[in-house]
Amino acid sequence: KRLAIIGMPMDLGQMRRGVDMGPSAIRYAGINERLKNLFDEVQDLGDIPIGRPEVSIDQESNLRNLELIAEKTAKLAAKVDEVIESGSFPLVLGGDHSIAIGTLAGVSKHYQNLGVIWYDAHGDLNTAETSPSGNIHGMPLAVSLGLGHPLLTNIGGYQPKVKPENIVIIGARSLDEGERALIKEKGIKVYTMHEIDRLGMTKVIEESIQYLKHKTDGVHLSLDLDGLDPAEAPGVGTPVNGGISYRESHLAMEMLAEANLVTSAEFVEVNPILDDKNKTASLAVALMGSLFGEKLL
Ligand code: ARG
Ligand code: MN
Ligand code: MN
Ligand code: MN
Repeated sequence: KRLAIIGMPMDLGQMRRGVDMGPSAIRYAGINERLKNLFDEVQDLGDIPIGRPEVSIDQESNLRNLELIAEKTAKLAAKVDEVIESGSFPLVLGGDHSIAIGTLAGVSKHYQNLGVIWYDAHGDLNTAETSPSGNIHGMPLAVSLGLGHPLLTNIGGYQPKVKPENIVIIGARSLDEGERALIKEKGIKVYTMHEIDRLGMTKVIEESIQYLKHKTDGVHLSLDLDGLDPAEAPGVGTPVNGGISYRESHLAMEMLAEANLVTSAEFVEVNPILDDKNKTASLAVALMGSLFGEKLL
């Protein structure tokens, strides 16, 4: 088994600077050391070039940086596609969550029925019409369902990337009105913090695995570090109190490893400028260890 790491240092999906340094922070936290014994080979393919595009800070658009995000995520999609083609497991490092538009565009063409686990405080199910912010990092899951601007939904030349019945959202505690309506309309499975507290993470992951196992031919894990509690993951741009704990998250990753279900992954929204001594990037690397089968004994 081979792992390919792809950095996506893009911060155009939101307004707080610094999340473009996420891939560096995660590498600095020792990703290679941690994962190299869990695979036959770990290759770091470096970063998708983003450059320093000129962005105006007071755009009126309700799709901030639309063209740039479409252009850069298409490049990521092509790279992810190439990695899967070569037989490696793609692991993408963000960057804000808008990068998932590209990751899913690259992954999904390899599966008839891709499952998606969206580990996040947010639903990221907004469109230009429902978004309170105009920030595209609040839209990637909607885009992947085929909802949103065609420049985004058509990346990779096909849509949708995922069907509503193949999605599980875990950790939700901040949903906008339009997102709630969409979840109900499409019947998307959501484990909010309420269900995590009530059922416990063991049951939540057992149920999620059962829910996805038979109807999907691959599962993408999109892990937004703000799914965790900000006390444990302070280096994120849109923290929401009352999140998933460090231990619950490790348990979730270990159970996914045991189930051998996940076929691609991304870790997003790590912002070292807002972090406390690279704590959030270190947490991301530790969770990757569990996801890829690290064992104490
Ligand atoms: N729902 C809010 C919005 O649309 C926040 C989205 C936060 N998304 C994220 N990937 N951190 O702006
Ligand atoms: Mn930047
Ligand atoms: Mn989030
Ligand atoms: Mn998110």
